[in-house]
Amino acid sequence: MTDQFEPTIIGFTCNWCSYRAADLAGTARTKYAPNVRLVRLMCSGRLDPTFVMKALSGGADGVLITGCHPGECHYIEQNYKALRRFLLLRRVLKGMGIAPERVKLVWASAAEGVKLAHEIDAFVAEVRAMGPLAWHKNIDNGNHAEKEIMEVSA
Ligand code: FES
Repeated sequence: MTDQFEPTIIGFTCNWCSYRAADLAGTARTKYAPNVRLVRLMCSGRLDPTFVMKALSGGADGVLITGCHPGECHYIEQNYKALRRFLLLRRVLKGMGIAPERVKLVWASAAEGVKLAHEIDAFVAEVRAMGPLAWHKNIDNGNHAEKEIMEVSA
């Protein structure tokens, strides 16, 4: 038996592409790390940044955001909005003392089940190497700037 850290990853998927890619990987019996819990959205543009913060504060060690390739979003250009939010989120996380690499963005079409499986495996390995986020433990110890932000805004 191994005591290797197994990270919890929340994966936000787009109904039209990455969710179907995950489905395809499953149908084709392409194995990928079981650490990811997929949440289906209608589009990556539906991803409110608070979903990511809630996932991390609720116990996730990393968040994977996936969507249709640029130019292929079913809602025209909402994945560009997702990209902008992703970049902003990473800056905010860095400011909070959280490694921005804990949030990753991947484009995957419905036909890219194998690619998505590889991206999931790679991300799980990256987050495993970073160790547990332990959001609440760190906030309780006053190690994150978020505590100060909450105090200032109260
Ligand atoms: Fe897939 Fe917009 S419909 S990212």
